[in-house]
Amino acid sequence: MATGNWVEKQRVGVGAIREMATLRQHDRLAPIANTMNPELQARLKIIPHLDLGLEFDLDRLRLEAARITDYVGYESRAGNVALHGDLYRRSWQGRSLIGFEYDSRKGIHEPTPEYLEGVRRKGLSLGPTDLAAEVPYMMEIINQLDACHLPARVMVIVPAGHLVWHSHMQGRGQLPTCMTVHIPIEMPERFSYEVTANENLTRVHGFLQPLDPSKVYSARYPTGRATCFNSYHYHNVVNRDFEQSRISIMLFMELDREIPRRIFERAVAAYSGPVIG
Ligand SMILES: [Fe+2]
Repeated sequence: MATGNWVEKQRVGVGAIREMATLRQHDRLAPIANTMNPELQARLKIIPHLDLGLEFDLDRLRLEAARITDYVGYESRAGNVALHGDLYRRSWQGRSLIGFEYDSRKGIHEPTPEYLEGVRRKGLSLGPTDLAAEVPYMMEIINQLDACHLPARVMVIVPAGHLVWHSHMQGRGQLPTCMTVHIPIEMPERFSYEVTANENLTRVHGFLQPLDPSKVYSARYPTGRATCFNSYHYHNVVNRDFEQSRISIMLFMELDREIPRRIFERAVAAYSGPVIG
């Protein structure tokens, strides 16, 4: 397995985000036009795991994650992969923090333009769910990262759980400017985030499997830090621990918004790990 040395980078506290958050006052409703950086996008496309250099208060995150468990528990979701619904129901649980109709069971879906348009056609709009009041610190983080415009959730991968290899962009239509970000709260020792190129996958008994393990970029993300999980390429998560669940905030940051773009520009400039070849 290829592993990155990307983990230990510059440490930038939430104070830096607060500075940038003041920019949001001028950008509350719409993405910024004509500010895209093609070089930034090209770099991000080949970085498997990108530490965003942002550290959060893990104790507060753990307290709030426990509060969610007390409040409603985590509900198993079938996901949007109908063929593998049973696998997802066994492995994956989650609740929305930003969703629809104040209902934390809704909005657990890649934020593709088609999906969001379908939701809008039903007359619904995105917003904090019933869980938001229980987890003010998580909501503060989502707001500081300017990630409140798209769905966000707390997601659990149970012991021995895994998903299927999939890409959000290739075949599903998530925009390449929409970056998938995780902030792990509980991270088992034997959990890994894995990324590989489409060319390294073959289908065995209906499931995609890597041909060459040395071309799988595998990483265990640090808790309390924000890491971008490459969703352009095919990726999977595997919990090889038989006792502990992985609990993570999963959110989406748009490069056509100034705060996310600045965070990603800084992180890419500091990155010295492997690239997907
Ligand atoms: Fe994914």
